[in-house]
Amino acid sequence: MARAKGEPVSIETIVIPDPGPGEAVVKIQACGVCHTDLHYREGGINDDFPFLLGHEAAGIVEAVGEGVTNVVPGDYVILNWRAVCGNCRSCLKGKPQICFSTFNATQKMTLTDGTVLSPALGIGAFVEKTLVHSGQCTKVDPAAPATAAGLLGCGVMAGIGAAINTGGVSRGDSVAVFGCGGVGDAAIAGARLAGASTIIAIDLDDRKLEWAKDFGATHTCNASTTDPVEYVKSVTDGNGADVCIEAIGLPAVYQQAFQARDLAGTVVLVGVPNPKATLELPFIEVFGRGGALKSSWYGDCLPSRDFPMLIDLYLQGRLDLDRFVSETISIDDVEEAFHKMERGEVLRSVVVM
Ligand SMILES: NC(=O)c1ccc[n+]([C@@H]2O[C@H](COP(=O)([O-])OP(=O)(O)OC[C@H]3O[C@@H](n4cnc5c(N)ncnc54)[C@H](O)[C@@H]3O)[C@@H](O)[C@H]2O)c1
Ligand SMILES: [Zn+2]
Ligand SMILES: [Zn+2]
Repeated sequence: MARAKGEPVSIETIVIPDPGPGEAVVKIQACGVCHTDLHYREGGINDDFPFLLGHEAAGIVEAVGEGVTNVVPGDYVILNWRAVCGNCRSCLKGKPQICFSTFNATQKMTLTDGTVLSPALGIGAFVEKTLVHSGQCTKVDPAAPATAAGLLGCGVMAGIGAAINTGGVSRGDSVAVFGCGGVGDAAIAGARLAGASTIIAIDLDDRKLEWAKDFGATHTCNASTTDPVEYVKSVTDGNGADVCIEAIGLPAVYQQAFQARDLAGTVVLVGVPNPKATLELPFIEVFGRGGALKSSWYGDCLPSRDFPMLIDLYLQGRLDLDRFVSETISIDDVEEAFHKMERGEVLRSVVVM
């Protein structure tokens, strides 16, 4: 749990209500540590402390409330933060993958003194069990271990989807990915799955660039020593990449992605900016370069469509989810995992319950 801005996380005893109508209690098997958990802890998302962190998880449904039909106790599920409502203006336009009114559990989990907890992204999964809306449970093949499967619940799905769903990467495309953490490397893996023939990884850390090659980067650029815009142009016949993906959330890097893009190409922002950041772009080039500037919320994924499909690709050996797991840790080690993330030592630390 994160009690206050910047304070180290702590382990607490919490109270989980029995599932009410439409809700499910899920026994967590594994949960990845995502940069978004750290954003919450740093007060970068909102001020609704205390937060129950953790949201990249897989586990077993333990109990369901009245009216739940999509899962039964014993089902192996990945938790998602896009339980589509079916009724908002986006769902009604046939775009449930960007549902504006997603479901979370109605009841609240609390501390033993009754303090209401805010679960990260409506999940809260650095716990033995959590209470979610049943639509947040997506059934997948139990042959996939929870350490790998859980990662699809957030960062890895966000990255793969940024490339495939939002960026529309297609065979033969050139793709540049700025920031090669778990999300950026997933975008690289997604670009490879979609058939991109040139995949350029950009980071400040040579170790990250080495790892990026394992996911499919064909070229790497250390932006601390080489101008990434010039580099991307130099390996794309002077044109720039068809799709540039920003996976950090920094205005200066977004500007690079904007400039490194071919005419009529696409920029995808999947990194989450600091709420105070502003962005300046040459307006004439926004027009003159054409194309699309898009943001990717959760990789524009539809969990019921994308999770089982990606788990199948994993089980067929076509998507290496295990490669994202730098280490497995116990729930006591989340604070240390944040520090390792800040030092750039890991792609994902995964808590095994
Ligand atoms: N859009 C979504 O739905 C969604 C979902 C999950 C995570 N995210 C966000 O995606 C971002 C990345 O998450 P992550 O877990 O991969 O984080 P991470 O910290 O593991 O990775 C960030 C990477 O960027 C590199 N980097 C930092 N500054 C750079 C610079 N100036 N130039 C080039 N590289 C630089 C770092 O070395 C690191 O490898 C975060 O902002 C996270 O909140 C978004
Ligand atoms: Zn909706
Ligand atoms: Zn996340």
